Amino acid sequence: MQLLSKADEVTTLVQVAKSKNLSVGFVPTMGALHKGHISLVRRAKKENDIVIVSIFVNPTQFNDKKDLEKYPRTLDQDIQALKPTKVDIVFAPDVSEIYPDGDKKGSEIDLGGLDKMMEGAFRPGHFNGVAQVVKRLLDIVNPDRLYMGQKDFQQFTIIQHMIDTLHLPVHMVVCPIMREENGLAMSSRNVRLTSTTRSNAGIIYKTLKSAKSKLKTHTIGNINAEAMKSLSTGPFEPVYFEIVDGNTLQPIHDASKHDYIVACTAVWADGVRLIDNHILKS
Ligand code: PAF
Repeated sequence: MQLLSKADEVTTLVQVAKSKNLSVGFVPTMGALHKGHISLVRRAKKENDIVIVSIFVNPTQFNDKKDLEKYPRTLDQDIQALKPTKVDIVFAPDVSEIYPDGDKKGSEIDLGGLDKMMEGAFRPGHFNGVAQVVKRLLDIVNPDRLYMGQKDFQQFTIIQHMIDTLHLPVHMVVCPIMREENGLAMSSRNVRLTSTTRSNAGIIYKTLKSAKSKLKTHTIGNINAEAMKSLSTGPFEPVYFEIVDGNTLQPIHDASKHDYIVACTAVWADGVRLIDNHILKS
């Protein structure tokens, strides 16, 4: 495993690999790696000759500067966690390496309005920052395949939109959500929950699965109302529970009119914002 911090070193290594017809897989992360990230890396290793993982806490996607300061930076631990995967390159750049011309450049990618609802409604500018950094990383790494997790449903939908509209030469692979034993979606934030909250947080996945079972028998309004009620227990406080069209991310009203339907939710617990989703129809 090589640890690199300079963009041009990564670009050159990939050019050499590609000149030998080797395929390149890329997993972008902000570090604080957990089993969910490791599953992306393992999948990328299966499907590519060379795999690159980036570890970069991207300042432009934090609309709350305190959240940016609090974000865990655990490079040594992350490297240990990556060792068994036999990843080829870990790219851990400084901010100046990613944004040599300042962090405004490249932030104006058109996200087709997909960034305005759900997470975007509560975190203005967040998805512009995500798209900006992913575009910059793709320019540096130039991979054949980009690996992202289904857990951040809105994020990967927006990145796919960017890839399509900018005609970027990369194929995105979306990997399933990794869950703890009780169904809680794995996230770097879970360690901030008390042990009681963490063990009760299976209610989120249970509510999502219950929405799926009701899709044919209940109205969407009913499913949403019951879900909000079921998520309002103990320390849990739902921010939203929305059943959306998986392509447009717009809330739906009649399930029979859509082929791809996803339930998405965000819930506060112990001051931690947890997000999750479940595909109801595809
Ligand atoms: O999902 C994340 O960890 C980040 O949003 C990403 C895609 C690495 C961009 O900073």
